[in-house]
Amino acid sequence: MNILLLGSGGREHAFAWKMVQSPLCDTLFVAPGNAGTAAIATNLDFSATDFDAIKALVIKENIEMVVVGPEDPLVKGIYDFFKNDHDLKDIPVIGPSQLGATLEGSKEFAKEFLMKHKIPTAAYDSFTAETVEKGCEFLTTLQPPYVLKADGLAAGKGVLIIQDLAEAQEELRNMLVGQKFGAASSKVVIEEFLDGIELSCFVLTDGKSYKILPTAKDYKRIGEGDTGLNTGGMGAVSPVPYVDAVLMEKIETRIVKPTIEGFQKDGIEYKGFVFIGLINVKNEPIVIEYNVRMGDPETEVVIPRMKSDLVELFLAVANEKLDEFELEIDERSATTVVVVSGGYPEDFEKGKVISGFENVENSIVFHAGTKLNNGNIVSNGGRVLTVTSYGDNFEEAIKKSYQNIDKLHFDKMYFRKDIGNDLK
Ligand code: AMP
Ligand code: GLY
Repeated sequence: MNILLLGSGGREHAFAWKMVQSPLCDTLFVAPGNAGTAAIATNLDFSATDFDAIKALVIKENIEMVVVGPEDPLVKGIYDFFKNDHDLKDIPVIGPSQLGATLEGSKEFAKEFLMKHKIPTAAYDSFTAETVEKGCEFLTTLQPPYVLKADGLAAGKGVLIIQDLAEAQEELRNMLVGQKFGAASSKVVIEEFLDGIELSCFVLTDGKSYKILPTAKDYKRIGEGDTGLNTGGMGAVSPVPYVDAVLMEKIETRIVKPTIEGFQKDGIEYKGFVFIGLINVKNEPIVIEYNVRMGDPETEVVIPRMKSDLVELFLAVANEKLDEFELEIDERSATTVVVVSGGYPEDFEKGKVISGFENVENSIVFHAGTKLNNGNIVSNGGRVLTVTSYGDNFEEAIKKSYQNIDKLHFDKMYFRKDIGNDLK
């Protein structure tokens, strides 16, 4: 079958890498893709949210399945666009409906869903420009630090954690009245601060049944020792050594099951990934967010550990046969280290020639922000490459990732040298 994959990051290169290994995959198209996907699939020159271009391509190339990587096309309703189109309605889209995607598109919607289905989450209230003074008052009833979340999508930057009450009140006004995050902060969720270790749970569902995917931990800050600004993610490790069977059981019964049952009760069509962000407070997992897609760079360690055929797995999702699917996972650990452009997550330069790919041994280099330029592979974003390795344990895997990063070069490249150190 011919498949269309939407997106252009390391996550999508990892999906593409795995899907082209499937005997079920004839031609894989990626829109817009990167230099890594160009080497194994056919890149298309339009964005993942250009629904008209997507429709034209799907018809022209006889596409039989669409896999959605990032949240944008999902929040914009790609699933419903296919479902409601006479020519596209029979083509499965791997990703939730627009209503399902609202779990990521609106923090308030997610909080209401969590409360309604009695899924553990931090206490909260939400405010708009009209109720900003009430919000400032509400803050006085909480203990510091104060957690302020822009309701809408804000490219991962919409959460502020502030120690000082007066500063929190000022930021609340900036968000609601000053439109600090544009329309995304026209509503703000104020949440109780949870003190504990963060972890993520990745689930794939066909709307009825679900599979829990391997655990993974990412490293969000730019600086070593988890310091500095937040990024999309600077590295990942799978499995996470501190997540044991007892904790997983709690996560499954208290969070995953009621989430999938909640979709059914609320009539939310959902055939895709659910990425649940949790904080483990004294061994009690509590939800801090839903994402309606896989994590990046977590995908670059989760997908390589999947032994099963990914296209077959997606077909099981599309056909609501996930309960019959046997998911096989590689016992080995996988790690990935993200190589970024100097300056990221603030200003950085693009167009730097990347060299050394031919010297890499025993690692997989997934491309993120790269493109082809006159026969060279050049940087084209903040996160540029991610170097994934396997090992009998994560220490062995991470050593290989670092050995291979040393063979790769571009001007002003930067990476964290401490991925996994906190787990030793
Ligand atoms: P989110 O976009 O909801 O994942 O939030 C971004 C980051 O803020 C998370 O990865 C956590 O580190 C932190 N965070 C979010 N909500 C809370 C909370 N209620 N308590 C403590 N930290 C939080
Ligand atoms: N790595 C975190 C995310 O994809 O949101």
